[in-house]
Amino acid sequence: DDEADLIERAPIVTIMGHVDHGKTSLLDYIRNANVTAGEAGGITQHIGAYSVKTEGGRMVTFLDTPGHEAFTAMRARGAKVTDVVIIVVAADDSVMPQTKEAINHAQAAGSPIIIALNKIDKPGANPDKVREELAQMNILVEEWGGKYQSQEVSAKTGQGIPDLLEKVLLEAELLELKANPDRQAVGTVIEASLDKGRGYVATVLVQTGSLKIGDVVLAGAHYGRVKAMTDHRGKKMKEAGPSTPVQLLGLDGAPQAGDKFLVMESEREAREIASNRSQV
Ligand code: GTP
Ligand code: NA
Ligand code: MG
Repeated sequence: DDEADLIERAPIVTIMGHVDHGKTSLLDYIRNANVTAGEAGGITQHIGAYSVKTEGGRMVTFLDTPGHEAFTAMRARGAKVTDVVIIVVAADDSVMPQTKEAINHAQAAGSPIIIALNKIDKPGANPDKVREELAQMNILVEEWGGKYQSQEVSAKTGQGIPDLLEKVLLEAELLELKANPDRQAVGTVIEASLDKGRGYVATVLVQTGSLKIGDVVLAGAHYGRVKAMTDHRGKKMKEAGPSTPVQLLGLDGAPQAGDKFLVMESEREAREIASNRSQV
């Protein structure tokens, strides 16, 4: 793309950390939603993708990941498509195995890390103990002379959350994130499944370009013409630009989470490539 075609795009921010440290609750507070309440057993089992308008009017795309140890692959994928990672650590607990794992994924992907010290409202909260444990992993926070921004927050009371968002936007600004909206869309599949009523539904993240109704999409070993698009609330969309997560209908099967997708000129070519790939 020519530099002239590029415009600013929203940062993609992945929330990672140990199970039950409050990732979904934090995002629920930011979105003014209540996803946590609907989770069977309180354990997140998939990646959620949400576009959020912050108070200053700037958009941020959040990916919520599960903290349960079984979901390493999802955390790795989340770290790969992101611009910034928020590592959530419960301040009444400790740096735990999946906290370490999440930090490793973020570092492997080269993503900047911001530390959210959550559950600060709890009587047993001891954020300094957590800062100390992080320092032992070479994650030294700014208050202690290091390079990592951190913020004490409570997903319950909302304390510190505006400051956390400001830090995210600051980090994003340094990255000068840009994309060209006026080209055919390219992005990543977040998840896909068969819905009895609607057929195959794929949640994808558009990374550059704009995805439109009627576009021919090749996604992993599947293809199809986009029949309909909705946001995470089920609101219909005609077009999805850079950094936008969208649910799309029209694929002939469910691609794998993490597959790349792209828009192609010809349906025939897309079908051929998809069929070659599915024979491997
Ligand atoms: P997984 O997705 O399963 O890894 O968990 P999670 O990190 O998304 O944690 P979740 O949001 O499900 O929260 C776990 C529990 O901690 C829930 O009972 C929340 O109500 C509680 N919780 C989360 N944040 C806070 C907080 O800031 N303060 C208090 N007091 N409780 C919190
Ligand atoms: Na949980
Ligand atoms: Mg969760």
